[in-house]
Amino acid sequence: MLIGVLYKLAILGGGQMGEALLGGLIDAKWASPAEIVVAEIHEGRREQLAQRYGVRVTDDGAEAARQSETVLLAVKPQDMEAVLDSISRVVTEEHLVISIAAGIPIAHIEERLADRVAVVRIMPNSPALVREGVAALAAGSHANPRHVSHAEEILSKVGRTVRLPEKHLDAVTGLSGTGPAYVFFLAEMLIEAGVGVGLPRDVAAELTVQTLLGAARMLRETGKHPVELREMVTSPGGTTAAAMRVLERAGVRSAFLDAVRAATERSRELAAGNSGQR
Ligand SMILES: NC(=O)c1ccc[n+]([C@@H]2O[C@H](COP(=O)([O-])OP(=O)(O)OC[C@H]3O[C@@H](n4cnc5c(N)ncnc54)[C@H](OP(=O)(O)O)[C@@H]3O)[C@@H](O)[C@H]2O)c1
Repeated sequence: MLIGVLYKLAILGGGQMGEALLGGLIDAKWASPAEIVVAEIHEGRREQLAQRYGVRVTDDGAEAARQSETVLLAVKPQDMEAVLDSISRVVTEEHLVISIAAGIPIAHIEERLADRVAVVRIMPNSPALVREGVAALAAGSHANPRHVSHAEEILSKVGRTVRLPEKHLDAVTGLSGTGPAYVFFLAEMLIEAGVGVGLPRDVAAELTVQTLLGAARMLRETGKHPVELREMVTSPGGTTAAAMRVLERAGVRSAFLDAVRAATERSRELAAGNSGQR
């Protein structure tokens, strides 16, 4: 336990993700508002968060980190250098540092902090905003299982979690990090298609969104393989068979394989740019 610690958690960066986690943690009673401090550079945003959640807010990230057990880095990747600089002298091996910044390798964070500081890197996704996120966690070289469980507990308040070695985080970025955009794109196309076959746009949107939600819940709740669920609704010579034939012929399957690969590669390139190798 750190001497003089006031807070369980400091969130550095009170943006979309910072707020999603803050809301999830307070709702789940993981901590009381008095046990969380948010460091954010915009005054208006600080006031908003203080009013909405009753947490302490500050513009001094270093002081917030010094006074907290766990430090969550939730600024944009391009702001990470400044944040790491500011906390490098106050964070000790008594702290746990959790980073959700895309593409910033653990080794890079560890290098910028004092020796033996525990770091856990997370790749979350945007449905965390509605507490249906999924996040992959990778442990740094000084993070023990207790640190990882602690990070997992925090992220579990806004969705599900998986543990993976850091080398897989680019693939996670390509699949679930970028994934919501694939689903939004699919929704956009289905709505257009619905309008194309004569439905009013609002009706097409309602049918599309509920179909995506219902199908996702069927996948999760039945635990069945997607092929099995698809076969359940595909009768010989029927409508689904006709539609699937068109999708396969158009190369949709290979387009998805290529898209996830492209996003994974791009994540790898961005991470290389952030590791001081360029
Ligand atoms: N949103 C997602 O879906 C998602 C998914 C996966 C990973 N992530 C990761 O989550 C992190 C946060 O993303 P976000 O979407 O929440 O970003 P965001 O909404 O821009 O939030 C970051 C906030 O931190 C502020 N800030 C910048 N420098 C600061 C400093 N030194 N001290 C305190 N606050 C500072 C920013 O101000 P300015 O606006 O002036 O910069 C902004 O208000 C990113 O690193 C991103 O890679 C996000």
